[in-house]
Amino acid sequence: MNSLEIRTPDDFHVHLRQGPAMAAYAARTARGFGRFMAMPNVVPPLTGPAALADYRRAVAAAVAASGYASTPLSCFKLVPGMGREAVLACAAAGAVAGKYYPTGSTTNASDGVPEPAAVADELAAMQDAGLVLSIHGEDPAAPALERERAFLDVVDGIVGSYPRLRVALEHLSCAESVRAVLSWPERVGATITAHHLSYAIDDLLGGGLRPELFCKPVLKSAADRAALLEAAVSGSPRFFFGSDSAPHPPEAKAAGAAGCYTAPVALSLLAAAFEEAGALDRLEAFVSVSGARFYGLGLNPGVLRLSREGWTVPAAVDGAVTPAAGRTLAWTAERI
Ligand code: DOR
Ligand code: ZN
Repeated sequence: MNSLEIRTPDDFHVHLRQGPAMAAYAARTARGFGRFMAMPNVVPPLTGPAALADYRRAVAAAVAASGYASTPLSCFKLVPGMGREAVLACAAAGAVAGKYYPTGSTTNASDGVPEPAAVADELAAMQDAGLVLSIHGEDPAAPALERERAFLDVVDGIVGSYPRLRVALEHLSCAESVRAVLSWPERVGATITAHHLSYAIDDLLGGGLRPELFCKPVLKSAADRAALLEAAVSGSPRFFFGSDSAPHPPEAKAAGAAGCYTAPVALSLLAAAFEEAGALDRLEAFVSVSGARFYGLGLNPGVLRLSREGWTVPAAVDGAVTPAAGRTLAWTAERI
């Protein structure tokens, strides 16, 4: 197959940052995706309705200036002490999700949640408001490669304690998580990134160290990647695309920051991964249908065309290094 047309996709997990760099990152995502969920771990964080609305306006303005039609979806950051009223106010301000970062688990998460009991009122409010609880599922106290697995019991406790709460476990990285998601009720879904579907830990550090592939949760084994790919191509409505595209300036990456800037290459990587699995016909379900249904949204109008044209990824895009920098990818993506 040399070209494929799918319904315009969505990205249910992307970091656009704040300040002058944000406009380019927002435009890059708008180019490929009809909607995107902007993550709230900006500085200062999005923990209340005013900050959420301001950020959404700024992102929407950047998207409008880009000339691409794309809609930002809002997600607030869940922090202890926030309170029920603030959660409900975020919902009223248009939030569709709230993000649970275990304290210290990743970039700008020092103000995160130490344990679910610390946000019990907030989780109850989210359940009442019909918001999705988006979870960075890692226990930062566990060894690096075991952090996700070590957090599954915490997620299990939340799923059990809030029987109507919808939960999205973000950026799955290992086979145990796939099995756990399938063991939970249908109100629990999960995102999978393009980088976790495309690379394993040996790509990151088996040869020369490739910092552009360093992210949290860290890439796991080839068997884990295979399990993620199997889930993504399965057509199960539980699994959908969230890029976790997370740009850092070169000096931050050099200092060890976690994050893969995949927005410029995500659709090319996804097409290659689905092709590898012999499942290009299921790409649309993963990237354009299942996530929208999980979030209770209609499907996007419009079409994305993927073409096997071959392109060489520039060394840097928007001032950040992407996975596959300097390499040739088979598929290009263009909204038509
Ligand atoms: O690698 C990551 N980078 N993982 C995350 O969870 C956050 C992200 C970021 O914001 O840099
Ligand atoms: Zn993220």
